[in-house]
Amino acid sequence: MAKLAINGGPKTIDRQIGKDWPIFDQTERDNLLEVLESGRWWRGGGDAETSRVAQFEQAFADFHDAKHGVALTNGTQAIECALKALDIRPGDEVICPAATFVATATACILVNAIPIIVDIDPANYQIDPAAVEAAITERTVGIAPVHYGGYPADMAALREIAERHGLWIIEDAAHAHGSTWNGHGCGSIGDIGCFSLQMGKTLTAGEGGICLTSDEDLAQKLFSFHHIGRFEGRPFYEHHIVASNLRMTEFQAAVLLGGLGRLEEQAETRDRNARHLEAGLREIEGVAPIERADWVTRWNFYFYHFKFNSEEFGGISRQQFGEALAAEGLSVGTGHLAPIQKNPLFTKRHWGPACFGDNDPPDYASAHTPECDRIHAEEGVSLTHRLFLGGTEDMDLMLGAIAKIRYNVDELR
Ligand SMILES: Cc1ncc(COP(=O)(O)O)c(C=O)c1O
Repeated sequence: MAKLAINGGPKTIDRQIGKDWPIFDQTERDNLLEVLESGRWWRGGGDAETSRVAQFEQAFADFHDAKHGVALTNGTQAIECALKALDIRPGDEVICPAATFVATATACILVNAIPIIVDIDPANYQIDPAAVEAAITERTVGIAPVHYGGYPADMAALREIAERHGLWIIEDAAHAHGSTWNGHGCGSIGDIGCFSLQMGKTLTAGEGGICLTSDEDLAQKLFSFHHIGRFEGRPFYEHHIVASNLRMTEFQAAVLLGGLGRLEEQAETRDRNARHLEAGLREIEGVAPIERADWVTRWNFYFYHFKFNSEEFGGISRQQFGEALAAEGLSVGTGHLAPIQKNPLFTKRHWGPACFGDNDPPDYASAHTPECDRIHAEEGVSLTHRLFLGGTEDMDLMLGAIAKIRYNVDELR
């Protein structure tokens, strides 16, 4: 008689794991109604006394140990805005990891800069500092590490490289709300941190973004670049630089303030559950957690990765493993592990109206990122963050499903 659900056996997980996403309660309802009835639906020149957006900016910055926040439309435009505030020029090169969502790199192209895509460290799936160092040219102006999956990148090594070469750092913290590096909030460690607040993220208003910085001058520039070139404290119809309207609405901030009130507890719950899962994964042959580096003081992931080793898991492929796990009641994915430079926009060089001055983007089709390629093809398995919002018994159920497949792997061969 078959034991595995995929072959007709009993299913290991027959109830919901974690929670539905997004989460909201009466706080969001009250906040939204208050904004609606106030008749003040945009931030305008409002401060923390009058504007929900201004309140959210300060609260989010405080939560992540930064001095200033500028809330805006989405995470992609947060990166564009940060690049502009850092005086990006046509043809400047910015070093990004291969494992990320494409926006880390396309935000660079949208402001006429050239993303230089480098490999990740197989130990933690984050941008590899040695690969960053090797990619630096006289055109390099900055590094855009991604705290990929919410795991803090190796910021000590990256900061050391940046200082030695006179580069800035934009942290793409789109996955890392509430994650901490050596006790500091992700997004407050480089020059500017950029977050997405899109629907799937661990803090969301459906869409939205925010830039953090502790540098006064950069905070002013971010403000101006998101507010049609206005300067704070100057007349409303005085515009100083060419800039777009990237403002967040008061409705979005009303929702985000509700979610932010839950972020600490959710981050602790996810991290606690992940540690429980990690201990269990170490006991099952053929799977393993990503090792936590010393600097990872809290990992509040957008998605959680672990490693699958086909040879040690009885010779089945990762796809067979995923299908068998889905039948047991647990859906897994591979995150954004496909190296971004394999996208047609890079291989076919579809840059749109971008112009790079006297520099030219590299041949992305032959970009060499063997670790990212291998991890994407065979090793990485991802679990969405909402699965980790329940109790540790949920982790035990997930471990039970994985262990059952390993134990009965002969049924799949
Ligand atoms: C790493 C990363 N950077 C940037 C973004 C862009 O954010 P948005 O979708 O809010 O524009 C995303 C979105 O998923 C992301 O995952």
